[in-house]
Amino acid sequence: MKRKPLLWILCLWVAPQLYAQQATIVQIETKSNSLILKSDENKRLRTIYFGKKLQNKEEAKWIPTPSKSTDDNSGICNAVYTPSGSWSMFEPAISITHADGNISTELLFQSVQEQKESENVSLTTILLKDPVYQTEVKLFYKTYIQEDVIEQWTEIKNLEKGTITLQKYASANLYLNAEKFYLTNYYGNWAQEMRPKEMELTGGIKVLDSKLGTRTNLFEPPTFTIALNKASAEDEGEVLLGNLGWSGNFKIEFELDPLHNLRLIAGINPHASAYPLASNASFKTPSLIYTLSQHGKGLASRNFHNWARKYRILDGTGDRLTLLNNWEATYFDFDQSKLTNLFKDGKKLGVDMFLLDDGWFANKYPRNGDNAGLGDWEENRKKLPDGLGYLIKEAQNTGIKFGIWLEPEMVNPKSELYEKHPDWVVKQVQRPEHYFRNQLVLDLANPKVQDYVFGVVDNLFTKNPALAFIKWDCNAVIFNANSAFLQSQGQSQSKFYVDYIRGLYSVLERIRAKYPKVPMMLCSGGGGRVDYEALKYFTEFWPSDNTEPLERIFIQWNYSYYFPAIATCNHVTDWGKQPLKFRIDVAMMGKMGFDIVVEHLKAEELQFAQTAIQNYNKLKPAILQGDQYRLVDPYTHDFASLMYVSTDKNQAVMFNYFVSNRYESTASPKPVVLKGLDPNKKYRIQEINLFGNQKSSLNSNAEYSGSYLMTVGYNPEVNSGRSSVILEIGAI
Ligand code: DGJ
Repeated sequence: MKRKPLLWILCLWVAPQLYAQQATIVQIETKSNSLILKSDENKRLRTIYFGKKLQNKEEAKWIPTPSKSTDDNSGICNAVYTPSGSWSMFEPAISITHADGNISTELLFQSVQEQKESENVSLTTILLKDPVYQTEVKLFYKTYIQEDVIEQWTEIKNLEKGTITLQKYASANLYLNAEKFYLTNYYGNWAQEMRPKEMELTGGIKVLDSKLGTRTNLFEPPTFTIALNKASAEDEGEVLLGNLGWSGNFKIEFELDPLHNLRLIAGINPHASAYPLASNASFKTPSLIYTLSQHGKGLASRNFHNWARKYRILDGTGDRLTLLNNWEATYFDFDQSKLTNLFKDGKKLGVDMFLLDDGWFANKYPRNGDNAGLGDWEENRKKLPDGLGYLIKEAQNTGIKFGIWLEPEMVNPKSELYEKHPDWVVKQVQRPEHYFRNQLVLDLANPKVQDYVFGVVDNLFTKNPALAFIKWDCNAVIFNANSAFLQSQGQSQSKFYVDYIRGLYSVLERIRAKYPKVPMMLCSGGGGRVDYEALKYFTEFWPSDNTEPLERIFIQWNYSYYFPAIATCNHVTDWGKQPLKFRIDVAMMGKMGFDIVVEHLKAEELQFAQTAIQNYNKLKPAILQGDQYRLVDPYTHDFASLMYVSTDKNQAVMFNYFVSNRYESTASPKPVVLKGLDPNKKYRIQEINLFGNQKSSLNSNAEYSGSYLMTVGYNPEVNSGRSSVILEIGAI
């Protein structure tokens, strides 16, 4: 029979149109971006677009669905949450062993709901269901519109009659479309945190992961940047910045599909963590938090900073206390009278608070080194015969607040706590104990241990309500992962890594319910735990024990892509050979503190430090709450330059640090172009933090328009003789 060509053409045209009409399109929008999902002819929901916002939402229907490009779908892996054991051949986001032992899952789109939480915050919830098994998956996208941030997580519900096992349960499964992808991830070790590496992603899967249990960022953090099409730049190009809000084992996978698009799957590390889920129970994953910018890393960072201050970090829009810490000044060697003298030193220096570090507790096995006492949180009677109450009063009498160090998740085998509760300790009884910094981890999967850890903090505050600050440390990783509690309950050990972190969060939740305002520093033997879930409970974090100021510039620089200055603690210590001015100038670019012997300062140094603290206090609105602009990258230049501009654009501060002492290094031979000022305002620039009789070579009388400074720029004249130059920029 002869075919009628016109009819065929019509059929071909109508079929996709019909499908386009039936298909559900979900548009998740922020100020500048659209994330567009679409259900295909099989009801599988796919990511069809993530990028610059569409001017006209209606046109989303014209976006081609790559699933159409192959017949069998095997080359396509843009599922919004890739199932396993069914049609997809790619790295799954979810993998389930069903109650009957079957290992296949399929997820089909059911419904979508959008809820406005405020003018700026919306929550889109998507329901997916397996057509064969009673498994429900809800995908949550919380959008922070002005900040261009999306927080994404997933809830898996078991509606089968029996228990299922979650083998993999990612938080998010993104799909990005570009010619090329460049991943920046970070690696390191103790005192070497946040060393960046940018590379073009090639075929295969690149994985960032941790299996350390606690202190999980020791070798790498769950923090990354993806640049699309070309390597990342500060002010141009499309980049995605992300952080997984989970303080436990994580796994972030970057897979190029056969169309050379990027599949990004992030979540709890499934390693040794198959999670049983009883009938009717739900599992909520942690959040992946990400921001997409069409104008490079600078804007993406500012988006993250704004979001974190407003919505995540505890008291993110508040103030921070400058402090004097005694860790490097005394280590474990102190007593009551030494400390009260340090209070006076802190007062003399002009800081707000004294922070008593490790070594103040335990009696049977005194904490005089790192090999004993952890877990026994009573004042050591020999060092502190009159207790903390006395110290706090003395500090107050001196006119300074008092804060204290704790490491409540840990225990030394040489401790009364270990003797009393060996079953509270994470260990394998049939294997030799394996220590990290001579200590073991307490089993926070056990509610009794949670009560104990909460009690440590609660007792301290009940006895000492004037306690002004906690530094919460966590120095060990988990060896021999095993929970006596889970065993006693007949529960699977593979729940342990997850339940530990959930236990930790539940303790922190209780602490915050009772003590909502007390500032707390998140520390983990340096920067071993820095993520946006933990930071819900903390006002700040300790980036690294490495405070050598040259090293520190790079460490702080790298954290600054993801975390705001208000949360980044920088302490002036005696590490390295740099002069005090340089050390203080470097610490000033974040939340400043000191860990030095003030007594050892020469008169000129003390005076410099005092003035610098006054300058810092004056500049806090710009540094802590302003917008940050990275101007000159120390990885590619002889100096680093960055600035902060207050939200009203009246106050700004520019930090410049010389980082190269190589022969003929040129430092700043030409003006640095400033950013973020008001082009129509006039500014005066004054060099501050001048040491002793040093006179600035810069002219502080001239008046510059913001426009001039952001076009021609300003030369801070940083060089080996002027190794750090701080400029205060004030609107006239
Ligand atoms: C590790 C921290 O990073 C240090 O600042 C200090 O608090 C020590 N622990 C104390 O043991």
